[in-house]
Amino acid sequence: MKTIFSGIQPSGTITLGNYIGALKQFVELQEEYNCYFCIVDQHAITVPQDPLQLRKNIRSLAALYLAVGLDPERATLFIQSEVPAHAQAGWMMQCISYIGELERMTQFKDKSAGKDAVSAALLTYPPLMVADILLYSADLVPVGEDQKQHLELARDLAERFNKKYREIFTIPDVRIPEVGARIMSLQEPTKKMSKSDPNTKSFISILDEPKLIEKKIKSAVTDSDGVVKFDKDNKPGVSNLLTIYSILGGKPIPEIEKEYEGKGYGEFKAELAQVVINALKPIQDRYHDLMESSELDDILDRGAEKANKAASKMLKKMENAMGLGRKRR
Ligand code: TYM
Repeated sequence: MKTIFSGIQPSGTITLGNYIGALKQFVELQEEYNCYFCIVDQHAITVPQDPLQLRKNIRSLAALYLAVGLDPERATLFIQSEVPAHAQAGWMMQCISYIGELERMTQFKDKSAGKDAVSAALLTYPPLMVADILLYSADLVPVGEDQKQHLELARDLAERFNKKYREIFTIPDVRIPEVGARIMSLQEPTKKMSKSDPNTKSFISILDEPKLIEKKIKSAVTDSDGVVKFDKDNKPGVSNLLTIYSILGGKPIPEIEKEYEGKGYGEFKAELAQVVINALKPIQDRYHDLMESSELDDILDRGAEKANKAASKMLKKMENAMGLGRKRR
C-alpha cells in the first residue's frame, strides 16, 4: 500500500481553503492509502505565537481533522513536536539545503517582505517540511497549490541526499486537487484565502456560525456585470464563488451557471451561503462533541506512538548514511 503524508499548521482558524484544498482530499484518500496526517506545531512557531493560544489551536485542529471524517483506525493523526525525529531530520535537511534555493521560496518572500525582524526559521522551514515527508517514505503528498514549490524542494533534497549518501528516500509526488487547489480571498479574489489575513471578512472559517457565513458571502467582492459565469481572468470573484459552490454543493460548474442564468448575484450568493452552511454544519456538530470528549488524547497518544516508530527507523537510516553518532545494531 502506498503512503501519504500531509500536514496543517495550527496557527489560527482553519479556513474553507484548508478544507477544500487539503482536509477534504485527506478524507477521500484514507480509503486507499496508508496515511499520516500531522499537526505541524513546529512550523507554526516560525512566526510569533501566544503559547496558550497555540495549545488551544493544536487541540482544535486535532478535533477538526476527526470532525471532517478522518478515521483514526485507518489514518495516523499526530502532533509534530511529539515525534522528535522531525526536528532532528529537519536539521539534516537544512545541512544539505542551499541558502539561495530557500531564499527563492515564494512563501518566504511573501512572509518576510517589509519586516525587519524575521526569524531564521522562516527561511529554514521548508527543509523541516521536507523532513516531515521523507521520514515516512511518503509516495504522495496532498496539498493545495501554494505548497507546490515546497514539494519541488522535497524532491530535489531527496534526490540530492540519495545521490550524495545512500539511496534511502522515496521521491514524493505532489497531489493537487483539480478544482479548488487555490480558494481565493472573498475580499481580494486575486489573492489566496489565508487564515492569517487581518481582514476576517476575506475568509470563512470552518467553524463560522451560519449568520457570519451569510454576511461574509454577501459582502464577497464580485464585479458589476451581474452574470454568474466562470471566467477566472475577468471575473475572479464570481469564479471563486462558483468553485466553492461546485465543490461543496457537488454540482459541476456549467450546471450551476445554467441554474443562475438571468438571475443576479444576490440570489446566487444567498443560495451559496446555504450550501456552505449545510456542508459545514455536520462538521461543526462533530467538532463540538469531540472537543468535550476525552477521546482526542487517546487518539493523539496512539498516533504519536505509531509515528515515532516509523520516523525513528528512518532517522537511524539517515544518521547511518551521513555517519552521525556510532554504528549501532
Ligand atoms: P498550511 O497550514 O498553510 O495549509 C494547510 C493546507 O491547506 C492548503 N491551503 C489551501 N488550499 C486551497 N486554497 C487555499 N486558499 C488554501 N490555503 C491553504 C495548503 O496548501 C495546505 O495543503 N507548510 C504547510 C504545512 C506542512 C506540510 C508538511 C504539508 C508542513 N509539513 C508536509 C504537507 C507535507 C503549510 O503551511 O500549510
